[in-house]
Amino acid sequence: MRSSLLWQLLAVASLSAAKSLPPRNYATHDYYAIHLSPSTSPAELAESLGLAYEGALGEIQDHHVFKTIKQDADVVQDAVEELKRRRRKRDVPFELHPLDAVRYTKKAKLKPRMWKRNVPPLVQRAEGGDAVTQQREIANNLQIKDPEFNGQWHLFNTATPGNDLNVTGVWLQGITGKNSTVCIIDDGLDMDSEDLKDNYFAKGSYDFNDHVDEPKPRLSDDRHGTRCAGEVSAGKNNVCGVGVAYESRISGVRILSGEISDIDEALALDYELQENDIYSCSWGPPDDGKTMLAPDALLEKAMITAVQTGRGGKGSIYVFAAGNGAASDDNCNFDGYTNSIYSVTVGAIDNKNNHPYYSEACSAQLVVSYSSGGGDAIHTTDVGVNKCTNGHGGTSAAGPLVAGVYALVLEVRPELSWRDIQWLTVMTALPFDQPSDWTTTKIGKSFSHQFGYGKMDAGAIVEAAKTWELVKPQAWYWSPWMHVKQKIPQGDKGLASVFEITEEEMRTANLERLEHVTVTMNVEHTRRGDLSVELISPSGMTSHLSVTRRDDDFRGGYSDWTFMTVAHFGESPIGKWTIVVKDTKVNEHDGTFTDWKLRLWGECIDPSTQKLRPMPTEHDDDDHDAIAAPHHTVSVSVPSDSPTAAPNPSDLPTRPVNQKPTPQGPSSTAPFEPPTQVTSAPTSSPTSPSDQEHDHFLPHPFPTFGVSKRTQVWIYGSLALILCFVVSLGCYFYLARRKRLRNNPRDDYEFEVLDDRGEDDEGAALTGGPGRRGRRRAGELYDAFAGESDEDVFSDDDEHVAGVGGVYRDMDEKDQGAEEFDEKAHLRGRGSGSLSDFEGSGSSGAR
Ligand SMILES: *[C@@H]1O[C@H](CO)[C@@H](O)[C@H](O)[C@H]1NC(C)=O
Ligand SMILES: *[C@@H]1O[C@H](CO)[C@@H](O)[C@H](O)[C@H]1NC(C)=O
Repeated sequence: MRSSLLWQLLAVASLSAAKSLPPRNYATHDYYAIHLSPSTSPAELAESLGLAYEGALGEIQDHHVFKTIKQDADVVQDAVEELKRRRRKRDVPFELHPLDAVRYTKKAKLKPRMWKRNVPPLVQRAEGGDAVTQQREIANNLQIKDPEFNGQWHLFNTATPGNDLNVTGVWLQGITGKNSTVCIIDDGLDMDSEDLKDNYFAKGSYDFNDHVDEPKPRLSDDRHGTRCAGEVSAGKNNVCGVGVAYESRISGVRILSGEISDIDEALALDYELQENDIYSCSWGPPDDGKTMLAPDALLEKAMITAVQTGRGGKGSIYVFAAGNGAASDDNCNFDGYTNSIYSVTVGAIDNKNNHPYYSEACSAQLVVSYSSGGGDAIHTTDVGVNKCTNGHGGTSAAGPLVAGVYALVLEVRPELSWRDIQWLTVMTALPFDQPSDWTTTKIGKSFSHQFGYGKMDAGAIVEAAKTWELVKPQAWYWSPWMHVKQKIPQGDKGLASVFEITEEEMRTANLERLEHVTVTMNVEHTRRGDLSVELISPSGMTSHLSVTRRDDDFRGGYSDWTFMTVAHFGESPIGKWTIVVKDTKVNEHDGTFTDWKLRLWGECIDPSTQKLRPMPTEHDDDDHDAIAAPHHTVSVSVPSDSPTAAPNPSDLPTRPVNQKPTPQGPSSTAPFEPPTQVTSAPTSSPTSPSDQEHDHFLPHPFPTFGVSKRTQVWIYGSLALILCFVVSLGCYFYLARRKRLRNNPRDDYEFEVLDDRGEDDEGAALTGGPGRRGRRRAGELYDAFAGESDEDVFSDDDEHVAGVGGVYRDMDEKDQGAEEFDEKAHLRGRGSGSLSDFEGSGSSGAR
């Protein structure tokens, strides 16, 4: 072991050397991303495994890249298993091994290309009216001579005045994006274009496909990134049009022009995070209405690193295109990039403020912006020295406009955090007169799953930014896993589970008001597309976390999937949170709601004690809180089973459609009616509401002994502990006996019992394997005991060597990761084949 101080110095040194990570060559070599406890040096590990140490993995703390000659085996995992095996057989005396410091390992895999979020655009529109004169005056005033400026209706709309970004007033104040840098993560950026070269920022640019410095488009269909860049930062000159922030810096990181590994994607998402302020990402998993794909844990860590350390600690800003799968029932909550709390998800509207058929809806969508549809598309720079297109579209084109507006905002207030940017968006986005499920939120904003909080308005957000009071640091609260394990009724009724959050808990969590809410859940179902999920907040606001998808035949429900909603910004977290899982399709496919976990994120109460979120580990979702769950009111109802308690189906929230938006202001509409009777334990008998609310922490039939809630907790807790002990003891003797009677393997029933509680547990701690997850969920009694010592000893926060248990558990998770990857393997890159953009006027100044 080295002195940890020395190693930390080395780590700092290697961190600044991150950029000098040699280019990867996946044709000849394998690469490993390894999270190493600081007690062991990467050199030491490399030596013991015969790997070459390449350097730090970007700026993700304690993560490193190692390389070896290409081969089928996963040499790191094999070494871990070999060590484990030898230790088990006691072939070797126990002594610490550099492998003991490995907390996470992943052999880099190339994943198929992400999809560019383009959509075929349509034909030219007519224009006319007084607005044309006004447009001419603005152009004169700002000395805009760009030939295509008049065609850039998204900047100033003469055909339908008002249907634009409302940005020209901001420019007239001299705000044009100076000192802000937007990085387009895409298929390249033509830095030689006359329209981009003056604003091009080489230092923030890199090509992760060809591993060279310049993100030059090289393939025939590498036009997408350049077009997005033009929307943001096309210069004021004689070429094409102008960008929203035409004096901002623009950089390009190329990742979409071929397969890319998770290591390279993580490096791309964090590329030059002190120099690049805003990352604009117009791509994602296929929008086919069947895929459900979240980024690898490594990518989540890359994004957290960026929001915590990027931009001098103010946090990098990620903008993601919502996705173009609306016509195939896709929803942006099935995409782990757009439903990340760290990204701003942007959908599209067309020049008539209509919903274009492609733009996806979801509860994670924050805002919409203009794009193709209604007879026109976005006019922007194209690849070439002096080229222009009038055919850029899809949510791909909506995202960069918002990124450009953020560049304007940061020019005015560079000190805004990534969360201030989201708040400002919520507060200033403009709802518009278009039928949707507009609902007035607790803070008086209109939210629609189709349009988020409305359309981006550059004038409004810049104006608000000038005097915006910075939000306090982020705090969070994570509930324990709530076990439901009940069949989901078919039809409209749904299965509800309720969780109550107290003021006391929020004080402990230091959480004052909400921003994001995420729900991680497990549902088993033989047809995933039949399911839908609603989350109802204490104030009665409903988020449609998941919707049915007609093409999603996947036989497997949701497995540890995390949904996100932004519909609760500004609400108080205190009170009852209800989740309703529905299987509205009455057919032969059915399923079970297994469990869920609620995570609330928002502004803290006391900034002086608030810490940054620790990096996620593989154990965040482990069920070590099982014992704490009874402290909360968790009740489940199957409405059809208990007619007296059953809510009237009309009380259950359904998705309202075709409502007109309401004008801004808290008093404007009839508030959403919270369902009154959704919650009731199947076993409960009628009680007076006060009784239930104040004195019981368990469903009614359990006596209160006339003592306080806290004492009840103590009494029931003790009883539960004793019961658990007795059951465990019973299991132990039962298993011992089973082992002796093992010669009757055909006894299916008994064998199953053994599987659940026994054999799996015995071996799982060391061997891991597929049984582990099942054990985690099913065997909570056992876990309640085993969990504690385990987690404490091998917690990932442990500064010292993680120890045998820690390492092996990491490996277990790795197996799961591999399974997830297999799903990714089904993806098909769309590439150019189906990008049916049409070439606009082709070359230059002509239009
Ligand atoms: C740009 O940033 C530099 C350094 O942070 C600062 O000195 C300068 O005033 C800024 N310029 C503008 C136009 O905000
Ligand atoms: C348009 O921007 C101006 C500032 O340039 C702002 O005062 C105005 O409120 C904005 N219009 C709308 C409709 O938000």
